[in-house]
Amino acid sequence: MKQQLFELFNKRFACHLFQADRPIAAADLTYVLEAGRLSPSSFGLEQWKFVVLTSARHKQDLQAACFNQPQVGSAGAVVVILAKLADMDPDSDYVRRLLAREYPGDQFEGALKNYRGFHAATDVKAWSVTQCHIAAANMMTAATAAGLDSCAIGGFDPIEVRRQLDSAPTRYEPALILAFGYCAVDGGEKQRLPLDELVEYR
Ligand SMILES: Cc1cc2nc3c(=O)[nH]c(=O)nc-3n(C[C@H](O)[C@H](O)[C@H](O)COP(=O)(O)O)c2cc1C
Repeated sequence: MKQQLFELFNKRFACHLFQADRPIAAADLTYVLEAGRLSPSSFGLEQWKFVVLTSARHKQDLQAACFNQPQVGSAGAVVVILAKLADMDPDSDYVRRLLAREYPGDQFEGALKNYRGFHAATDVKAWSVTQCHIAAANMMTAATAAGLDSCAIGGFDPIEVRRQLDSAPTRYEPALILAFGYCAVDGGEKQRLPLDELVEYR
């Protein structure tokens, strides 16, 4: 298990062009989405929504909103991860429902009070987007396990992405776009700093 997980981490790379004629099996796509669904989130509020695009027209339109990056149009499927904004309001039905699940019975009122204070002091958009990035990382690892390649796309015009998805700015913020498919080009050697440059033990 330990070995297999690290094989996946080493194998995944950012694919910059996919084999455009190779669709993704529905079961593999569901597997990747499940990995997102099972991800941890702050307060257990599951700040993500996954919009899946598989039609050539939708992918081509989205590519234009991603500074024309070809991995978007050539992918078998593209997942736009939207970060929830309005739903994060402490008075929303959504927060009440999910907090009641995470903090049942007597714990609920205290948890809601805590959350209210947190929400007032937080840049909610940035916080919500951060949660979506955690799901994204898990989805890319899962894609590798399913034999798929992927690319995270942070380079996009959020206004245009929102317009294409017909999504209100108060409701969702596009957090990250994930392109999945079978890569048409080589990933090259993995480039990472050594641990001793990244880690400080105290
Ligand atoms: C949040 C995020 C945004 C990214 N945005 C883009 C992007 O817009 N276009 C792109 O080609 N790669 C993008 N990448 C991929 C990175 O460039 C890539 O992961 C990094 O260079 C390391 O290479 P590797 O993933 O192949 O190991 C993004 C990665 C992350 C995590």
